[in-house]
Amino acid sequence: MLENLNEIEKTALEALASVQNESDLESWRVTHLGRNSSLMQVFSGLGGLSKEERPVVGQAANRVKVALEATLADKTESLKRSTLERSLSEEKLDVTLPGRTIHQGRLHPSTQQLRRVLAILAEMGFQVYTSREVETDQMNFQLLNFALHHPAREMQDSFYVDARERGDNPILLRTHSSPGQIRSMQEFSAKDPKNPPPIRIAMPGMCFRYEQITARSEIQFNQVEGLAVGEGITFADLKGMLTNFARRMFGVQARVRFRASYFPFTAPSAEVDVECFVCGGKGCQVCKGSGWLEILGCGMVHPVVLQNGGYDPKRYSGFAFGMGPERQLMLRYRINDIRYFWGNDVRFLEQF
Ligand code: DAH
Repeated sequence: MLENLNEIEKTALEALASVQNESDLESWRVTHLGRNSSLMQVFSGLGGLSKEERPVVGQAANRVKVALEATLADKTESLKRSTLERSLSEEKLDVTLPGRTIHQGRLHPSTQQLRRVLAILAEMGFQVYTSREVETDQMNFQLLNFALHHPAREMQDSFYVDARERGDNPILLRTHSSPGQIRSMQEFSAKDPKNPPPIRIAMPGMCFRYEQITARSEIQFNQVEGLAVGEGITFADLKGMLTNFARRMFGVQARVRFRASYFPFTAPSAEVDVECFVCGGKGCQVCKGSGWLEILGCGMVHPVVLQNGGYDPKRYSGFAFGMGPERQLMLRYRINDIRYFWGNDVRFLEQF
């Protein structure tokens, strides 16, 4: 039996000497140390031996097992080392090769501009109020003092949903951010109908119009609506606030002019122009020779609109304005095609 063990050890060690790689080493382990190996059979045969033989053979078998396991560990280690050495010497690493650049994500230019606008407005006390993008005709038009068939609606061709069943109040994608005026006033006045709180909010978000898509018009775009309602608010407040906004946005030297205009939900209404910062007011292609660039619409909130929002027009007054961040970007960077904004072309987006 003891001779047999010596033989087992000798055979195993000889076989190990010729093992060259890790998979051969694994099959060596199964053959010589595995459950069905000759060595393990010696262990399972111990029970059949006499009392005197058992400890002697048991000890000898253990010694062989420990010895084989130790050699296996050594061999594993040396195989690993030689694999590493081979790969270091054969697979050359060229540290002078240029690395692959990691593309860093960034905010969409419209989002960046929205944030610039909101940051300036925030310093003037305007808090962000989010209003919904899917609206009713009532909110988008009627409560803003657009009569059912008023021609002013034609400026804002709409995407209607569910048009027929809802009669005169179909659902549509909001064509401007102004319905947020009604939503916010109704929400705030409902808190204390007899004594509604003053409002100073900025409402950013996407608007949609059923336009033919061209270099100048898109079917979706952002707007930021502003609304201030309280006691004693005048057109002078509107003018001062928007002039200040334009200087902060376009530079202290920016000259501003207010042009009389018409919107059903404000009276009086105006459009605001800044002096063209491309030509300094001399007239160029960007301002189409006029020297001025239009940046927003504004006005004193119409009494009917205040009333619809739950604010008594005899006691309260207010002003509102609406501007487009994409338009501002186009003016600022002389982007000549609005389709770039939603065209998903990284060559455009990477420039911001
Ligand atoms: N809602 C208007 C539009 O999209 C813009 C506008 C004009 C908003 C005057 C206002 C305003 O709040 O007072 O054409």
